Amino acid sequence: MHIHKYEKIWLIFGLTTLLIFLSVLGVSAFYLGNQPPSCLATINPEKVDTTKPFNKPGLKKVKGKAWDYELVFVASAFNYNPGEIEVPKGAKVKVIATTKDVIHGFEVAGTNINMMLEPGFISEFETTFDKTGEFLIVCNEYCGAGHHMMTSKIKVVE
Ligand code: CUA
Repeated sequence: MHIHKYEKIWLIFGLTTLLIFLSVLGVSAFYLGNQPPSCLATINPEKVDTTKPFNKPGLKKVKGKAWDYELVFVASAFNYNPGEIEVPKGAKVKVIATTKDVIHGFEVAGTNINMMLEPGFISEFETTFDKTGEFLIVCNEYCGAGHHMMTSKIKVVE
């Protein structure tokens, strides 16, 4: 088949544009995959236990911030530390979490808290607990044999 010279030029031009477009897409997908927007701060996953604030997981009252408490969680296969925590009703809380090993989820059932915990990154979520009750924390990223048993609990009390 005979292809006209100009058709050939347009064909090459079209293919080049497509290739550039695809590589831009690929590159941005790569960066998105490696740095989820909620995980801006980084941490050495092997030194979580000795790195603030993860050296003392749990609830801490803070002053001079937009939130009243910081609720720190350390995830590892297959549990969360703390395994259960009480939070006063109406408290403005910043949840700060990371993982010591593989990717874990951090979903608080019945709330809009849903984070992915990636080794090397710190995930944060600001929220106000304005309903009393028990809220189960579940792992929603498959992380291995004990995945389905990986839970913790937030008790919101008066
Ligand atoms: Cu941790 Cu699934």
